Amino acid sequence: MSGKLASEYSSWKKLQQLYDSEHANLTLKDLFASDPSRFSKFSKEYTSSSNPENTFLLDYSKNLITEPILKTLLELVREAHVEEYRHDMFTGKHINTSEDRAVLHVALRSFGNNETSEPGHIKEFSDAVRSGAWKGYTGKSITAIVNIGIGGSDLGPVMVTEALKPYAKRDLTPYFVSNIDGTHLAETLRELDPETTLFIIASKTFTTQETITNAESAREWFLASAKDKVHIAKHFVALSTNEKAVTAFGISKDNMFGFWDWVGGRYSLWSAIGLSISLVIGHDKFEELLKGARDMDKHFRETPLEDNLPVLLAVVGIWYNDFYGAQTHALLPYDQYLHKFADYFQQGDMESNGKFVTKGGQRVNYQTGPIIWGAAGTNGQHSFYQLLHQGTKLVPADFLAPASTHNRLRGSLHHRILLSNFFAQPEALAFGKTEEEVRKELGPNASEALVKSKVFEGNRPSNSIIFPLLTPATLGSLIALYEHKIFTQGVIWGINSYDQMGVELGKVLAKNILAQLDKPEDVKGHDSSTIGLIHYYQKYRKE
Ligand code: F6P
Repeated sequence: MSGKLASEYSSWKKLQQLYDSEHANLTLKDLFASDPSRFSKFSKEYTSSSNPENTFLLDYSKNLITEPILKTLLELVREAHVEEYRHDMFTGKHINTSEDRAVLHVALRSFGNNETSEPGHIKEFSDAVRSGAWKGYTGKSITAIVNIGIGGSDLGPVMVTEALKPYAKRDLTPYFVSNIDGTHLAETLRELDPETTLFIIASKTFTTQETITNAESAREWFLASAKDKVHIAKHFVALSTNEKAVTAFGISKDNMFGFWDWVGGRYSLWSAIGLSISLVIGHDKFEELLKGARDMDKHFRETPLEDNLPVLLAVVGIWYNDFYGAQTHALLPYDQYLHKFADYFQQGDMESNGKFVTKGGQRVNYQTGPIIWGAAGTNGQHSFYQLLHQGTKLVPADFLAPASTHNRLRGSLHHRILLSNFFAQPEALAFGKTEEEVRKELGPNASEALVKSKVFEGNRPSNSIIFPLLTPATLGSLIALYEHKIFTQGVIWGINSYDQMGVELGKVLAKNILAQLDKPEDVKGHDSSTIGLIHYYQKYRKE
């Protein structure tokens, strides 16, 4: 580790100079007009090394970059020793320094070392449940699975099972309960039959308050029907690193699927945490997802920086985040199946790179991780795109879409309309509509105010990613693409992308407050606002 702040790198200073001297004159319109080969220069086709059908195109030409800017951004990657860190991650060095842990989710999909996963156990269990051979306590097969987990023990399985629904066994319905709000569990259980429901308690630590409380309540609900605790064995399994806590909960070792402390929660869908994925789409398809990710790992490890897709996404993101001052980054999939993609990477990116202190303990003097948000197209267009087009903020965005759909309604009419929007939005953002064009359109009698209100300044950057069809392999590659983007940015900023100290304070305060909620006189040691809020609750609560 260099121990330097990113802003001390000479390439960073050079980027600042480039920004200062060029940004005022840098327009996408000019960049495209002056270079007919811009698209071919700034786009790359990815094809996975083991599966020619797993391919996508990344078009990053609609970014406010020139060849010298990109060259300097890649110098920054070298100066920050991203390649050395990448080697350290893949070889199991403890790059999660604050927790003294390796970061080896990539090993879970390497298919090279059986000690790093439990595929046999997962496959066997998944096959048994899917075939109906696994019976509930009254001899019926399982028709519903409820994954109880939160954060990384929820978001990955939710996102992937939604994304890969076309491959799902439709008579085995997955449910996901995460929120401690009893409403989440209560509303889920309303629909379910204890005789045919399997609960998957997913928690790396098996100490997370939300998950354990929800799991206990689910067990209570189950035992109200099943009566005898011996039946728990047929209806509860655990995904965890904490065998002691799992067995203390009443789940036997045989029904526990383990993983390891070197699998970060938000990188854990590749591990036993992905059990619900294997159950829903089948283990073979789950393995295709893993292989898709593995092939992107290979690409990330072996491809020169100039052609390295995660690196390119990372540096373009840094350009806006640190030099243009963009606060957010939108993920906009034009695929309903990817409607949880942005939610997933909200944790993936923000819990990883939302840090103000470097690994060496210095406060950074630049921006780190962006706010990640987004929604599936075209819904977003009727909601927040107004601000993307004409607001005062710069919102870089990634557009993603499949060329073909799993649902070819009316000869793919829906899909053609969807994709025409996928092509149109980045174009509109980039090139806008000039005052002159508006005047021409409205004619001489239009008011000045109306003319101004219809101008699109354009120059709003985006990446576009298009792939043939959303398959398990392609999804695996896309997730790994973003994982490595996050890694690359974290290394450049000098932060530890693999701890999450920022979630601790709230947890501690909530625990303290929980113990004070009974009586108003117990509410002590807080500011007047917090005390006032708790007193109001105490006045109106009904237990
Ligand atoms: O939000 C904090 C966090 O530790 C996440 O990193 C993690 O994914 C989540 O809580 C759930 O943790 P666990 O799997 O241990 O229940």
